[in-house]
Amino acid sequence: MPANQRSPESSRWYVLGAGAMGCLWATALQSHLRRPSATALIVRDEAAVANYPGEITIEGFAGDVQRFQIPAFSSLALAQARSPVQNLVLSCKAQDAESALAGIAPCLSDTSRIVLLQNGIRVQQTLTLHRPPGSVFCLSTSHGAWIKFPYHVVHAGQGNAWLGLLPPANTAAATSALTQLIGELPASDMHISIDHDMASRLWLKFAVNCAINALTVFYNCQNGELLSNPHAKNHLQALCREISELTDAIPECPVLPDLWQHVQQVATATRHNYSSTLQDIQRKRPTEIEHLNGWLCELAGRHHLPCPLNDTLLNHVRQRQTSHF
Ligand SMILES: NC(=O)c1ccc[n+]([C@@H]2O[C@H](COP(=O)([O-])OP(=O)(O)OC[C@H]3O[C@@H](n4cnc5c(N)ncnc54)[C@H](OP(=O)(O)O)[C@@H]3O)[C@@H](O)[C@H]2O)c1
Repeated sequence: MPANQRSPESSRWYVLGAGAMGCLWATALQSHLRRPSATALIVRDEAAVANYPGEITIEGFAGDVQRFQIPAFSSLALAQARSPVQNLVLSCKAQDAESALAGIAPCLSDTSRIVLLQNGIRVQQTLTLHRPPGSVFCLSTSHGAWIKFPYHVVHAGQGNAWLGLLPPANTAAATSALTQLIGELPASDMHISIDHDMASRLWLKFAVNCAINALTVFYNCQNGELLSNPHAKNHLQALCREISELTDAIPECPVLPDLWQHVQQVATATRHNYSSTLQDIQRKRPTEIEHLNGWLCELAGRHHLPCPLNDTLLNHVRQRQTSHF
């Protein structure tokens, strides 16, 4: 049924995870859809609902400030009421994705569409496998956002976004599902385009994150210093070599372009940024390391491939992380 003929409840977009990405995408959806209550947040619990100010503030990269009144519900309240969630943007961190989805399982049906925003590839692989075919969409984005205060998010950098399905699908059904979905998303404001080879995009971003993120924790540095510090640069180059050898040998990984070249481009373009992993360590928050180098080492183990550099970095980040808790 076309989106404009569905009931308001069934066409509502829920955004689970009201952090940097969740607030950014909830407000972009709300300003795109323009219907009252077109968008709602799903937060952890009733305490989070009570603390929610009733609106999200977004600071644009041009310095503009906008406020959006968007309702918030707890997972438990939605699950107990069995409120249908037909459209969901899952914007929590990778390590929370499966349990967050389980929390609203009574609200989901076989026709529910889920858009995943997580970094990495593990969540996308797992949920694509466990949900009905064609119902899990992956969105990879270069938009950057960070939380200034709770529910006050800075859209730090205008970027692009790519939407696709994980199994390579250039069929008429996949194209139709993607075209319908992109029509409901803020494609123009958020520069979203369809990617029919999402697996390659996600694997490449995963490989780049495996190369950069943990190493910025090791050297406690901005991304650019991985190239300007000669010792870090040698380390980065050796790590890229190991990651490339692994992705070449892991059967489910598509053929990727030259990783070292790609990593240099990303580290140069984001030279003043602190990686999300280092930011999480600095804020004493759990990192997504198990979904980056952790997942790579697990895949390497399954295929009996050596990964000493990744292993050492993984243990380094694990130790830094556990020293907080
Ligand atoms: N930020 C960026 O610029 C950016 C760019 C590209 C991709 N990404 C990816 O996008 C994903 C989200 O990143 P982020 O920076 O937005 O993270 P974030 O700011 O930490 O936000 C995650 C939010 O999810 C919430 N959450 C976790 N479990 C939940 C549950 N069961 N129910 C309800 N809410 C739950 C967290 O609540 P609590 O605070 O209570 O834990 C938090 O508010 C990550 O995979 C990240 O790698 C981020």
